[in-house]
Amino acid sequence: MRIQRDESLGVTLFEPDDFDNPIIQHYAFTRCKSYKASALKEMKRVYEQKELEEPFTQAFAESALDQWLFDVLQDVPFPGPRRGEEDFTFIDLFAGIGGFRIAMQELNGLCVFSSEWDLAAQETYRRNFGERPFGDITKQEVKRHIPKEFDILCAGFPCQPFSRAGVSARNFLGKEHGFEDKIQGNLFFDIIEIVEKHRPKVLFLENVKNLKSHDGGNTLATIKSMIENLGYSFNFKVINSQTLVPQRRERSFIVCFRNRSKTFEFPDFSGEPLKLSTILEQSVPDSFTISDALWDGHIRRSKRNKERGTGFTVGLADLNKPSNTIVARYYKDGKECLIPQDGKNPRMLTPKECSRLQGFPDSFQIHKSKKQAYHQFGNSVAVPVIKKIAKEILKKI
Ligand SMILES: C[S@@+](CC[C@H](N)C(=O)[O-])C[C@H]1O[C@@H](n2cnc3c(N)ncnc32)[C@H](O)[C@@H]1O
Repeated sequence: MRIQRDESLGVTLFEPDDFDNPIIQHYAFTRCKSYKASALKEMKRVYEQKELEEPFTQAFAESALDQWLFDVLQDVPFPGPRRGEEDFTFIDLFAGIGGFRIAMQELNGLCVFSSEWDLAAQETYRRNFGERPFGDITKQEVKRHIPKEFDILCAGFPCQPFSRAGVSARNFLGKEHGFEDKIQGNLFFDIIEIVEKHRPKVLFLENVKNLKSHDGGNTLATIKSMIENLGYSFNFKVINSQTLVPQRRERSFIVCFRNRSKTFEFPDFSGEPLKLSTILEQSVPDSFTISDALWDGHIRRSKRNKERGTGFTVGLADLNKPSNTIVARYYKDGKECLIPQDGKNPRMLTPKECSRLQGFPDSFQIHKSKKQAYHQFGNSVAVPVIKKIAKEILKKI
Protein backbone atom coordinates (compact mmCIF):
# COMPACT_ATOMS: atom_id res chain seq x y z
CA MET A 1 0.00 0.00 0.00
CA ARG A 2 1.24 3.47 -0.81
CA ILE A 3 -0.06 6.73 0.52
CA GLN A 4 0.92 9.66 -1.56
CA ARG A 5 -0.13 12.97 -2.92
CA ASP A 6 -0.43 13.14 -6.65
CA GLU A 7 0.09 16.76 -7.62
CA SER A 8 -0.98 16.23 -11.20
CA LEU A 9 -4.38 15.03 -10.02
CA GLY A 10 -4.63 17.42 -7.12
CA VAL A 11 -6.03 14.82 -4.74
CA THR A 12 -4.71 12.92 -1.79
CA LEU A 13 -4.54 9.33 -2.61
CA PHE A 14 -5.01 6.42 -0.33
CA GLU A 15 -3.63 4.04 -2.86
CA PRO A 16 -4.54 0.43 -2.26
CA ASP A 17 -2.57 -2.46 -3.70
CA ASP A 18 -2.94 -3.53 -7.23
CA PHE A 19 -5.95 -5.72 -7.25
CA ASP A 20 -8.05 -3.79 -4.76
CA ASN A 21 -7.90 -0.60 -6.74
CA PRO A 22 -10.56 -1.60 -9.27
CA ILE A 23 -12.89 -2.78 -6.53
CA ILE A 24 -12.97 0.59 -4.78
CA GLN A 25 -13.09 2.46 -8.07
CA HIS A 26 -15.89 0.30 -9.47
CA TYR A 27 -17.83 0.87 -6.26
CA ALA A 28 -17.22 4.62 -6.35
CA PHE A 29 -18.58 4.95 -9.87
CA THR A 30 -21.36 2.39 -9.87
CA ARG A 31 -22.38 2.09 -6.20
CA CYS A 32 -23.29 -1.47 -7.15
CA LYS A 33 -24.12 -3.56 -4.11
CA SER A 34 -21.92 -6.36 -5.40
CA TYR A 35 -18.77 -4.28 -4.79
CA LYS A 36 -19.85 -2.76 -1.50
CA ALA A 37 -18.60 -5.31 1.03
CA SER A 38 -15.22 -5.83 -0.68
CA ALA A 39 -14.74 -2.10 -1.28
CA LEU A 40 -15.51 -1.20 2.33
CA LYS A 41 -13.24 -3.95 3.60
CA GLU A 42 -10.42 -2.72 1.43
CA MET A 43 -10.96 0.92 2.36
CA LYS A 44 -10.90 -0.07 6.02
CA ARG A 45 -7.63 -1.90 5.58
CA VAL A 46 -6.06 1.05 3.80
CA TYR A 47 -7.46 3.46 6.36
CA GLU A 48 -6.22 1.51 9.35
CA GLN A 49 -2.71 1.44 8.00
CA LYS A 50 -2.79 5.20 8.16
CA GLU A 51 -3.30 5.05 11.91
CA LEU A 52 -5.81 7.87 12.11
CA GLU A 53 -7.69 8.42 15.33
CA GLU A 54 -11.17 8.65 13.92
CA PRO A 55 -12.84 5.22 13.80
CA PHE A 56 -13.59 3.81 10.36
CA THR A 57 -17.34 3.84 9.78
CA GLN A 58 -19.42 3.30 6.71
CA ALA A 59 -20.43 6.95 6.77
CA PHE A 60 -16.75 7.91 6.74
CA ALA A 61 -16.08 5.56 3.84
CA GLU A 62 -18.97 6.87 1.76
CA SER A 63 -17.97 10.45 2.40
CA ALA A 64 -14.32 9.69 1.60
CA LEU A 65 -15.45 8.24 -1.71
CA ASP A 66 -17.54 11.33 -2.42
CA GLN A 67 -14.46 13.43 -1.73
CA TRP A 68 -12.41 11.26 -4.07
CA LEU A 69 -9.94 10.27 -1.39
CA PHE A 70 -9.51 6.64 -2.31
CA ASP A 71 -7.60 6.91 -5.52
CA VAL A 72 -10.72 7.68 -7.47
CA LEU A 73 -10.27 10.26 -10.19
CA GLN A 74 -12.46 13.30 -10.17
CA ASP A 75 -13.60 15.19 -13.25
CA VAL A 76 -12.90 12.49 -15.81
CA PRO A 77 -14.16 13.36 -19.30
CA PHE A 78 -16.56 10.40 -19.49
CA PRO A 79 -18.01 9.64 -16.04
CA GLY A 80 -21.21 8.04 -17.39
CA PRO A 81 -24.67 8.31 -15.88
CA ARG A 82 -25.13 8.23 -12.11
CA ARG A 83 -26.46 5.08 -10.55
CA GLY A 84 -30.26 5.05 -10.79
CA GLU A 85 -30.34 7.46 -13.72
CA GLU A 86 -29.21 4.97 -16.36
CA ASP A 87 -31.43 3.43 -19.03
CA PHE A 88 -29.54 0.13 -19.02
CA THR A 89 -26.43 -1.53 -17.59
CA PHE A 90 -23.57 -3.23 -19.41
CA ILE A 91 -20.19 -4.82 -18.83
CA ASP A 92 -17.10 -4.02 -20.89
CA LEU A 93 -14.93 -7.11 -21.48
CA PHE A 94 -11.58 -6.96 -23.34
CA ALA A 95 -12.22 -3.30 -22.78
CA GLY A 96 -9.09 -1.84 -24.41
CA ILE A 97 -9.46 1.91 -24.07
CA GLY A 98 -13.25 1.81 -23.89
CA GLY A 99 -14.53 2.26 -27.44
CA PHE A 100 -17.65 0.27 -26.54
CA ARG A 101 -17.99 2.17 -23.30
CA ILE A 102 -18.07 5.63 -24.87
CA ALA A 103 -20.79 4.57 -27.29
CA MET A 104 -22.90 2.80 -24.65
CA GLN A 105 -22.56 5.70 -22.21
CA GLU A 106 -23.67 8.13 -24.91
CA LEU A 107 -26.90 6.11 -24.95
CA ASN A 108 -27.16 6.48 -21.17
CA GLY A 109 -25.80 3.06 -20.25
CA LEU A 110 -24.06 2.48 -16.91
CA CYS A 111 -20.94 0.34 -17.06
CA VAL A 112 -20.99 -1.94 -14.00
CA PHE A 113 -17.81 -3.95 -14.70
CA SER A 114 -14.76 -3.64 -16.93
CA SER A 115 -11.83 -5.95 -17.58
CA GLU A 116 -8.62 -5.30 -19.51
CA TRP A 117 -5.23 -6.71 -18.59
CA ASP A 118 -2.90 -4.43 -20.55
CA LEU A 119 -1.50 -1.89 -18.10
CA ALA A 120 -1.12 0.95 -20.60
CA ALA A 121 -4.69 0.47 -21.84
CA GLN A 122 -5.87 0.39 -18.22
CA GLU A 123 -4.17 3.73 -17.69
CA THR A 124 -5.92 5.34 -20.66
CA TYR A 125 -9.22 3.81 -19.57
CA ARG A 126 -8.87 5.17 -16.06
CA ARG A 127 -8.00 8.69 -17.25
CA ASN A 128 -11.19 8.75 -19.27
CA PHE A 129 -13.73 6.85 -17.22
CA GLY A 130 -12.31 7.04 -13.70
CA GLU A 131 -11.93 3.41 -12.84
CA ARG A 132 -9.14 1.02 -13.55
CA PRO A 133 -10.54 -2.11 -15.18
CA PHE A 134 -10.08 -5.48 -13.50
CA GLY A 135 -7.33 -7.60 -15.07
CA ASP A 136 -7.19 -11.09 -16.56
CA ILE A 137 -10.74 -12.22 -17.25
CA THR A 138 -9.73 -15.87 -17.33
CA LYS A 139 -9.19 -15.71 -13.57
CA GLN A 140 -12.03 -16.67 -11.26
CA GLU A 141 -11.03 -13.96 -8.76
CA VAL A 142 -11.73 -11.41 -11.50
CA LYS A 143 -14.93 -13.01 -12.78
CA ARG A 144 -16.40 -13.24 -9.30
CA HIS A 145 -16.67 -9.44 -9.16
CA ILE A 146 -19.07 -9.24 -12.09
CA PRO A 147 -22.42 -8.04 -10.70
CA LYS A 148 -25.11 -10.70 -10.77
CA GLU A 149 -27.38 -8.77 -13.10
CA PHE A 150 -26.66 -6.53 -16.07
CA ASP A 151 -28.37 -6.00 -19.41
CA ILE A 152 -25.71 -6.14 -22.11
CA LEU A 153 -22.38 -7.94 -22.35
CA CYS A 154 -20.00 -6.04 -24.66
CA ALA A 155 -16.77 -7.65 -25.85
CA GLY A 156 -14.31 -7.10 -28.69
CA PHE A 157 -12.59 -10.39 -27.94
CA PRO A 158 -9.37 -11.67 -29.51
CA CYS A 159 -9.88 -14.10 -32.40
CA GLN A 160 -8.40 -17.57 -31.73
CA PRO A 161 -8.94 -20.95 -33.35
CA PHE A 162 -10.97 -23.53 -31.42
CA SER A 163 -9.90 -26.71 -33.15
CA ARG A 164 -6.33 -26.48 -32.02
CA ALA A 165 -7.50 -26.01 -28.47
CA GLY A 166 -8.80 -29.55 -28.80
CA VAL A 167 -12.17 -28.77 -27.29
CA SER A 168 -15.28 -28.95 -29.42
CA ALA A 169 -18.41 -26.98 -28.71
CA ARG A 170 -20.28 -30.10 -27.73
CA ASN A 171 -17.86 -31.50 -25.23
CA PHE A 172 -17.25 -28.03 -23.83
CA LEU A 173 -20.93 -27.47 -23.16
CA GLY A 174 -21.30 -31.05 -21.93
CA LYS A 175 -18.50 -30.13 -19.55
CA GLU A 176 -16.57 -33.25 -20.39
CA HIS A 177 -13.52 -31.07 -20.25
CA GLY A 178 -14.81 -28.78 -17.53
CA PHE A 179 -14.08 -25.08 -17.48
CA GLU A 180 -10.67 -25.75 -15.96
CA ASP A 181 -9.49 -27.31 -19.19
CA LYS A 182 -10.04 -24.21 -21.19
CA ILE A 183 -6.51 -22.96 -20.54
CA GLN A 184 -5.87 -24.85 -23.74
CA GLY A 185 -7.43 -21.98 -24.83
CA ASN A 186 -9.91 -19.81 -25.95
CA LEU A 187 -11.00 -16.57 -24.40
CA PHE A 188 -14.42 -17.06 -25.94
CA PHE A 189 -14.96 -19.81 -23.36
CA ASP A 190 -14.68 -17.15 -20.68
CA ILE A 191 -17.43 -15.16 -22.38
CA ILE A 192 -19.58 -18.28 -22.52
CA GLU A 193 -18.95 -19.03 -18.87
CA ILE A 194 -20.06 -15.48 -17.96
CA VAL A 195 -23.15 -15.70 -20.16
CA GLU A 196 -24.14 -19.02 -18.66
CA LYS A 197 -23.83 -17.66 -15.13
CA HIS A 198 -25.32 -14.17 -15.56
CA ARG A 199 -27.64 -14.57 -18.52
CA PRO A 200 -27.62 -10.95 -19.74
CA LYS A 201 -30.41 -9.86 -22.08
CA VAL A 202 -28.01 -9.16 -24.96
CA LEU A 203 -24.53 -10.13 -26.14
CA PHE A 204 -22.84 -7.52 -28.32
CA LEU A 205 -19.57 -8.82 -29.75
CA GLU A 206 -17.00 -7.46 -32.19
CA ASN A 207 -14.20 -9.22 -34.00
CA VAL A 208 -11.95 -9.13 -37.06
CA LYS A 209 -13.42 -9.19 -40.53
CA ASN A 210 -12.14 -12.67 -41.33
CA LEU A 211 -13.87 -14.30 -38.36
CA LYS A 212 -16.14 -15.98 -40.89
CA SER A 213 -13.28 -17.67 -42.75
CA HIS A 214 -11.01 -18.10 -39.72
CA ASP A 215 -9.85 -21.69 -39.21
CA GLY A 216 -11.88 -22.80 -42.25
CA GLY A 217 -15.14 -21.48 -40.79
CA ASN A 218 -14.77 -23.55 -37.62
CA THR A 219 -14.27 -20.57 -35.32
CA LEU A 220 -17.52 -18.82 -36.24
CA ALA A 221 -19.47 -22.11 -36.35
CA THR A 222 -18.26 -22.95 -32.83
CA ILE A 223 -19.12 -19.50 -31.52
CA LYS A 224 -22.60 -19.71 -33.04
CA SER A 225 -23.36 -23.17 -31.73
CA MET A 226 -22.14 -22.33 -28.22
CA ILE A 227 -24.29 -19.21 -28.07
CA GLU A 228 -27.35 -20.97 -29.49
CA ASN A 229 -26.86 -23.83 -27.05
CA LEU A 230 -27.30 -21.32 -24.26
CA GLY A 231 -30.70 -20.45 -25.72
CA TYR A 232 -29.72 -17.13 -27.34
CA SER A 233 -30.47 -15.96 -30.87
CA PHE A 234 -27.52 -15.27 -33.18
CA ASN A 235 -27.11 -12.41 -35.66
CA PHE A 236 -23.90 -11.84 -37.57
CA LYS A 237 -22.78 -9.15 -39.99
CA VAL A 238 -19.58 -7.68 -41.40
CA ILE A 239 -19.83 -3.89 -41.34
CA ASN A 240 -17.62 -1.24 -42.94
CA SER A 241 -17.24 1.93 -40.87
CA GLN A 242 -16.43 4.20 -43.81
CA THR A 243 -19.78 5.99 -43.90
CA LEU A 244 -19.53 7.05 -40.25
CA VAL A 245 -15.79 7.69 -39.95
CA PRO A 246 -13.30 8.31 -42.78
CA GLN A 247 -11.70 4.89 -42.39
CA ARG A 248 -12.32 1.66 -44.31
CA ARG A 249 -12.61 -0.69 -41.37
CA GLU A 250 -14.51 -3.90 -41.90
CA ARG A 251 -15.37 -5.77 -38.74
CA SER A 252 -17.57 -8.69 -37.75
CA PHE A 253 -20.40 -7.93 -35.36
CA ILE A 254 -22.51 -10.43 -33.43
CA VAL A 255 -25.72 -9.52 -31.60
CA CYS A 256 -27.59 -12.16 -29.59
CA PHE A 257 -30.79 -11.94 -27.56
CA ARG A 258 -31.67 -14.08 -24.56
CA ASN A 259 -35.24 -13.84 -25.73
CA ARG A 260 -34.66 -15.57 -29.03
CA SER A 261 -38.08 -14.61 -30.36
CA LYS A 262 -36.77 -11.02 -30.77
CA THR A 263 -36.02 -10.38 -34.40
CA PHE A 264 -33.03 -8.17 -35.09
CA GLU A 265 -31.75 -6.43 -38.18
CA PHE A 266 -28.44 -4.63 -38.27
CA PRO A 267 -28.91 -0.98 -39.26
CA ASP A 268 -28.00 0.21 -42.73
CA PHE A 269 -24.43 1.42 -43.15
CA SER A 270 -24.58 2.17 -46.86
CA GLY A 271 -23.85 5.66 -48.14
CA GLU A 272 -21.11 7.95 -49.31
CA PRO A 273 -17.68 7.13 -47.81
CA LEU A 274 -16.23 10.00 -45.76
CA LYS A 275 -13.09 11.90 -46.70
CA LEU A 276 -9.85 11.54 -44.76
CA SER A 277 -9.22 15.26 -45.22
CA THR A 278 -12.06 16.05 -42.80
CA ILE A 279 -10.21 14.75 -39.73
CA LEU A 280 -6.66 15.99 -40.40
CA GLU A 281 -5.01 18.38 -37.97
CA GLN A 282 -4.07 21.80 -39.31
CA SER A 283 -0.52 21.99 -38.12
CA VAL A 284 1.50 18.86 -37.47
CA PRO A 285 5.08 18.85 -36.07
CA ASP A 286 7.88 17.67 -38.35
CA SER A 287 8.52 14.74 -36.04
CA PHE A 288 5.62 12.97 -37.81
CA THR A 289 7.38 13.19 -41.20
CA ILE A 290 8.93 9.80 -41.96
CA SER A 291 12.68 9.52 -42.49
CA ASP A 292 14.37 9.08 -45.88
CA ALA A 293 15.42 5.55 -44.87
CA LEU A 294 11.86 4.53 -44.00
CA TRP A 295 10.35 6.13 -47.10
CA ASP A 296 12.98 4.56 -49.39
CA GLY A 297 12.33 1.19 -47.74
CA HIS A 298 8.58 1.53 -48.35
CA ILE A 299 9.14 2.38 -52.00
CA ARG A 300 11.58 -0.54 -52.49
CA ARG A 301 9.28 -3.09 -50.84
CA SER A 302 6.24 -1.84 -52.72
CA LYS A 303 8.09 -2.10 -56.03
CA ARG A 304 9.22 -5.64 -55.24
CA ASN A 305 5.74 -6.71 -54.14
CA LYS A 306 4.18 -5.18 -57.24
CA GLU A 307 6.59 -7.05 -59.52
CA ARG A 308 5.77 -10.32 -57.75
CA GLY A 309 2.10 -9.47 -57.76
CA THR A 310 1.96 -10.16 -54.02
CA GLY A 311 1.89 -8.34 -50.75
CA PHE A 312 1.17 -4.93 -49.52
CA THR A 313 2.05 -1.86 -51.52
CA VAL A 314 2.53 1.42 -49.76
CA GLY A 315 0.67 4.22 -51.36
CA LEU A 316 0.11 7.75 -50.27
CA ALA A 317 -3.33 8.28 -48.85
CA ASP A 318 -5.98 9.84 -51.07
CA LEU A 319 -7.37 12.58 -48.87
CA ASN A 320 -10.68 12.53 -50.71
CA LYS A 321 -11.31 8.94 -49.68
CA PRO A 322 -11.40 7.09 -46.35
CA SER A 323 -8.07 5.84 -44.96
CA ASN A 324 -7.05 2.21 -44.91
CA THR A 325 -7.73 0.29 -41.70
CA ILE A 326 -5.68 1.54 -38.79
CA VAL A 327 -4.06 -1.44 -37.10
CA ALA A 328 -2.19 -1.93 -33.82
CA ARG A 329 1.17 -2.07 -35.62
CA TYR A 330 0.67 1.28 -37.36
CA TYR A 331 3.28 2.90 -35.08
CA LYS A 332 6.01 0.75 -36.64
CA ASP A 333 6.16 2.38 -40.05
CA GLY A 334 2.79 3.95 -40.78
CA LYS A 335 2.46 2.09 -44.07
CA GLU A 336 -1.33 1.76 -43.78
CA CYS A 337 -1.78 5.49 -44.13
CA LEU A 338 0.81 8.07 -45.08
CA ILE A 339 -0.21 11.67 -45.64
CA PRO A 340 1.40 13.41 -48.63
CA GLN A 341 3.20 16.69 -47.92
CA ASP A 342 4.55 19.36 -50.26
CA GLY A 343 8.33 19.20 -50.68
CA LYS A 344 8.81 16.63 -47.90
CA ASN A 345 8.52 12.94 -47.26
CA PRO A 346 5.00 11.93 -46.28
CA ARG A 347 3.99 11.96 -42.64
CA MET A 348 2.25 9.57 -40.32
CA LEU A 349 -1.14 10.30 -38.84
CA THR A 350 -0.97 11.84 -35.38
CA PRO A 351 -2.56 9.95 -32.45
CA LYS A 352 -5.30 12.62 -32.39
CA GLU A 353 -6.06 11.89 -36.06
CA CYS A 354 -6.18 8.15 -35.26
CA SER A 355 -8.62 8.86 -32.45
CA ARG A 356 -10.82 10.76 -34.90
CA LEU A 357 -10.59 7.94 -37.45
CA GLN A 358 -12.13 5.72 -34.78
CA GLY A 359 -14.76 8.35 -33.98
CA PHE A 360 -13.52 9.15 -30.45
CA PRO A 361 -14.53 12.60 -29.19
CA ASP A 362 -11.74 15.20 -29.15
CA SER A 363 -12.02 15.36 -25.34
CA PHE A 364 -10.76 11.77 -25.10
CA GLN A 365 -7.49 11.65 -23.12
CA ILE A 366 -4.87 9.99 -25.31
CA HIS A 367 -2.01 7.96 -23.80
CA LYS A 368 1.12 10.08 -23.54
CA SER A 369 3.30 7.46 -25.25
CA LYS A 370 2.84 7.78 -29.01
CA LYS A 371 3.54 4.10 -29.49
CA GLN A 372 0.89 3.10 -26.96
CA ALA A 373 -1.60 5.57 -28.39
CA TYR A 374 -1.28 4.17 -31.94
CA HIS A 375 -1.47 0.64 -30.61
CA GLN A 376 -4.57 1.38 -28.56
CA PHE A 377 -6.50 3.12 -31.33
CA GLY A 378 -5.49 0.40 -33.81
CA ASN A 379 -7.00 -2.21 -31.48
CA SER A 380 -10.11 -0.26 -30.73
CA VAL A 381 -13.51 0.03 -32.36
CA ALA A 382 -15.12 2.72 -34.49
CA VAL A 383 -17.26 4.30 -31.78
CA PRO A 384 -20.11 5.58 -34.04
CA VAL A 385 -20.54 2.08 -35.51
CA ILE A 386 -20.98 0.63 -32.02
CA LYS A 387 -23.41 3.40 -31.17
CA LYS A 388 -25.54 2.90 -34.27
CA ILE A 389 -25.84 -0.87 -33.69
CA ALA A 390 -26.49 -0.31 -29.97
CA LYS A 391 -29.36 2.08 -30.75
CA GLU A 392 -31.00 -0.71 -32.71
CA ILE A 393 -30.40 -3.17 -29.87
CA LEU A 394 -31.98 -0.80 -27.35
CA LYS A 395 -35.18 -0.62 -29.38
CA LYS A 396 -35.59 -4.31 -28.57
CA ILE A 397 -34.98 -4.35 -24.84
C1 LIG B 1 -9.28 -6.14 -29.82
S1 LIG B 1 -8.86 -5.43 -28.29
C2 LIG B 1 -10.38 -4.71 -27.79
C3 LIG B 1 -10.35 -3.20 -27.82
C4 LIG B 1 -11.60 -2.52 -27.29
N1 LIG B 1 -12.81 -2.98 -27.92
C5 LIG B 1 -11.50 -0.99 -27.43
O1 LIG B 1 -12.47 -0.36 -27.78
O2 LIG B 1 -10.43 -0.43 -27.19
C6 LIG B 1 -8.76 -6.84 -27.25
C7 LIG B 1 -8.28 -6.50 -25.85
O3 LIG B 1 -8.37 -7.66 -25.02
C8 LIG B 1 -7.34 -7.56 -24.05
N2 LIG B 1 -7.16 -8.92 -23.46
C9 LIG B 1 -6.65 -10.01 -24.06
N3 LIG B 1 -6.67 -11.06 -23.21
C10 LIG B 1 -7.20 -10.61 -22.04
C11 LIG B 1 -7.48 -11.23 -20.79
N4 LIG B 1 -7.21 -12.52 -20.57
N5 LIG B 1 -8.05 -10.49 -19.82
C12 LIG B 1 -8.34 -9.16 -20.03
N6 LIG B 1 -8.08 -8.52 -21.20
C13 LIG B 1 -7.52 -9.24 -22.20
C14 LIG B 1 -6.14 -7.07 -24.85
O4 LIG B 1 -5.17 -6.48 -24.01
C15 LIG B 1 -6.82 -6.05 -25.79
O5 LIG B 1 -6.76 -4.75 -25.29
